[in-house]
Amino acid sequence: MRRPEHTLTFRPRLALADESLRPTRAEIDLDAIAHNLAVLKTLAAPAKVLAVVKADAYGHGVVPVAARLEEDGVDGFGVALAEEGLELREAGIRAPILVLNGVYGGAHLDVLEAGLVPVVYDLAQIEAFDRAAPDRPFRVHVKIDTGMSRLGVPLRELDRFLDGLERFPRCVVSGLMTHLSSADTDTRETSEQIKRFDEVIAKLRARGHRPDVVHAANTAATLAHPEGRYDMVRPGGALYGISFGMPQGAELRPALRLRTEIIALRDLEEGDTVGYDCTYRCARPTRVATVPMGYGDGLLRELSNRGSMLVRATRCPILGRVSMDLTMIDVSHVEDAAIGDEVVILGSQSHGDRSARIEADEIAKLAGTIAYDVMTSVSRRVPRSYG
Ligand SMILES: Cc1ncc(COP(=O)(O)O)c(C=O)c1O
Repeated sequence: MRRPEHTLTFRPRLALADESLRPTRAEIDLDAIAHNLAVLKTLAAPAKVLAVVKADAYGHGVVPVAARLEEDGVDGFGVALAEEGLELREAGIRAPILVLNGVYGGAHLDVLEAGLVPVVYDLAQIEAFDRAAPDRPFRVHVKIDTGMSRLGVPLRELDRFLDGLERFPRCVVSGLMTHLSSADTDTRETSEQIKRFDEVIAKLRARGHRPDVVHAANTAATLAHPEGRYDMVRPGGALYGISFGMPQGAELRPALRLRTEIIALRDLEEGDTVGYDCTYRCARPTRVATVPMGYGDGLLRELSNRGSMLVRATRCPILGRVSMDLTMIDVSHVEDAAIGDEVVILGSQSHGDRSARIEADEIAKLAGTIAYDVMTSVSRRVPRSYG
């Protein structure tokens, strides 16, 4: 039986003018991202900086972000998937691109022809590239599992892997890498992983491999573990302003602001309820504003009755359950709150001489998750605007 054909697409088609769309927007500050790259370059020098832009640049929109980083002299990009790398090539990005999670399916030749460099961690993957390109050398980065137990050649299998590698003389190990599991939380585990990795580097060199780059450091290691920077660092979060509260990241600037506008207002009385399942009951007369953003846009549902938003630089608690497209907030204490007022979900807002801000980290803590989850959750129906 033939399977139905599906078309995959990553891009919404917007037929309406900007001003006719819902006012919910993700505003991306490309200058902040460029500033963060400059901070990281200075910190990591002489190590190179590979910008991790997987998952649509952590929700910031990969093509504009990568274009700006390339313009500002980034040394390369890290993506999780081959298709993310191909999207960058289609958009005209020419810098080196490393496919961090390896290549699935049958795209090996496409990957090599697009000049993407795959990460490999087992011999079957190397064999697949060898078969796809029978008449030329191909470059790979070999990933070693030093304690993350996710991807990478396990240390116990390293000798067998290195023996097997000798069957593929056209495979050039141009990079050697590992990934750190706890660089933001556990210094001892990080040092252990780095020690294990150093032993692997020595072993590879003893077998005659001369990788151009050795790399291990994500954001937290780039900031706080200089011994893990090697020849290249691979920060993602730091580019978007995440520093895990580390002093070395104090200069990083957040790049994402989520904003919308009040679309409805009502005055409730004591005892009235708000939202699905009546989880909020007014204890007093309450002015409630409806905001056109919900969990279908990436506003985490865990923020129900917990989070807040800014109106006129004043914090307004979320009342009741976040629903798919809409959320209610308490604006009783906001003087003159009106339909059309700007509402900030993430980022800063000024009003008169006041200003306030809500950080991704604050939202994450309330929702029991991490800032990366907050950023990558912003769904594709929220238009990104770049400044
Ligand atoms: C292999 C690899 N390197 C680097 C990164 C970047 O990590 P971070 O965003 O914490 O800098 C990631 C992201 O998870 C990753 O999977």
